Amino acid sequence: MDTGLNKTYGYKLTLLAISLFLSLQCSTVSGTNWGSGFASVYLKNDIAENITLYAHCKSADNDLGKRILSYGQSFDWSFGINFFRTTLFWCNLWYLADSEGGVVSGSGDIFRVKQLEGCENNFDCYRAARKDGVHAYKFDPQQEDYILFAWMS
Ligand SMILES: *[C@@H]1O[C@H](CO)[C@@H](O)[C@H](O)[C@H]1NC(C)=O
Repeated sequence: MDTGLNKTYGYKLTLLAISLFLSLQCSTVSGTNWGSGFASVYLKNDIAENITLYAHCKSADNDLGKRILSYGQSFDWSFGINFFRTTLFWCNLWYLADSEGGVVSGSGDIFRVKQLEGCENNFDCYRAARKDGVHAYKFDPQQEDYILFAWMS
């Protein structure tokens, strides 16, 4: 049976194969992997106990759909970085907090290629939604933690 899901999967495999091929080519030609690569983003609900986070993340050609994360839960996705290093994911995020007058929401870029140096091994990008905004953080080789974007007031 030919389902849309299989098509999407096939398409992704093709993209993966192409970007792998390009990155091998580039490594061979220039000695460095400048053209491509892969990354993973881990988005965690670190807001507060009993607060549910709603997340809808997208790139130009990938819609990750609406995710519902209970406190402490995270979801992650991996992707190839395009040849021009313009790969970008952004998210709309929101949660309900009576203490803060209802819905708190925010949107911003959750991944840009220039943020890779703030990711572990230049690969694993940890993100956490907290009360003061959405953070990027890592532990290795040194600890870093900064706010990527704040909630709208
Ligand atoms: C979270 O929910 C549980 C179960 O309803 C409750 O016992 C607990 O006090 C709540 N915690 C907070 C911080 O509101």
